Amino acid sequence: EKDGYESFMEKEINEQPHAVADTLLGRSDSTGKLTLDELRIDPEELAKISKIIVLACGTSAYAGQVAKYAIEHWCRIPVEVELSHEFRYRDPIVDASTLIVSISQSGETMDTLMAVRYAKEQGAKTLSICNTNGSTIPRESDAVLYTHAGPEIAVASTKAFLAQITATYLLGLYLAQIRGNLFSGEIKDILADLADIPQKIQQVLDRSEQIKELARSMSDAESVLFLGRHVGYPVAMEGALKLKELAYIHAEGFAAGELKHGPIALIDEGKPVFVVVPSPRGRHSMHSKVVSNIQEVRARGAKTLVIAEENDESVQQFAEWVFYVPETKTLLMPLLATVPLQIFACELARQKGYDVDQPRNLAKSVTVE
Ligand code: F6R
Repeated sequence: EKDGYESFMEKEINEQPHAVADTLLGRSDSTGKLTLDELRIDPEELAKISKIIVLACGTSAYAGQVAKYAIEHWCRIPVEVELSHEFRYRDPIVDASTLIVSISQSGETMDTLMAVRYAKEQGAKTLSICNTNGSTIPRESDAVLYTHAGPEIAVASTKAFLAQITATYLLGLYLAQIRGNLFSGEIKDILADLADIPQKIQQVLDRSEQIKELARSMSDAESVLFLGRHVGYPVAMEGALKLKELAYIHAEGFAAGELKHGPIALIDEGKPVFVVVPSPRGRHSMHSKVVSNIQEVRARGAKTLVIAEENDESVQQFAEWVFYVPETKTLLMPLLATVPLQIFACELARQKGYDVDQPRNLAKSVTVE
């Protein structure tokens, strides 16, 4: 059942090209028109929403953070992302023009379910992005957009995360289509880039050995930091979470710009720091700021481990180790840049002899509040 892999986690990491492709499948036609029939919310009503609140926990909440960048950019709708368990306790402003987008792999996470119920009581429309057919959260929501990652067995989420991000892109493009925020040609162009992602993930997977080698050389690391900016920020957080969960190593993800406001004090000789570098073909100032961050931590002794885009020549000179991911649109980069961080955590945990499918103290679906 593990298809020759040593663990479900390894199998699921390797299934990610399919998870993304299957989530895209059948949801747009050759002209770039999206049809999300299963949504069950009247497009006219959807077009009128004034605000989106994404509710999720853990890895799913990082997918929500990626969604915020994409949906705000494409649709010009304000998007808030809130951890489900914090939501009810802050007296949130929710009404009939609010769309709640919950993201849950299992569809059974109690914190998220309770937050969705609360939002419904306040009159919000609720849409569930979920990987489990017929589970509680989609059943209780007005609309559902299923991710087609297939069953995820390993406790730590991998392929479901990439499928969730993919689904939020589809949602964002659909909203842009029905609200007229993007031209059909622009949507078609983004969909074409998305359609190329599965084979680009495969290219990353084909180079797993480079990441595993690094992981094997770092089995005595005590703390690892992860930096990212823009959509690279949730990727950094996800990389840190995977390392905590699987290898029980202290890890933290930071927004790269926050470094100088405190976390840089953590940097000392030999401290491993992963840096997720945005595309140099995107907004230039963002790229150059992250490259400066690499220099800053390196000058203080950090061991700089860089995830950058192919053909980015600016990072090599400041990096102890570089992993290149194929080129894509800045907003789509999490679908590629997350993968080496998953492989890193999985291999480091394996190396330490831990059970990567069943990390200590964790359960696959958290059905208590
Ligand atoms: C991390 C992980 C958890 C889940 C979180 C939400 O690897 O698996 O952080 O992402 O418990 O679970 P779902 O998505 O089922 O609501």
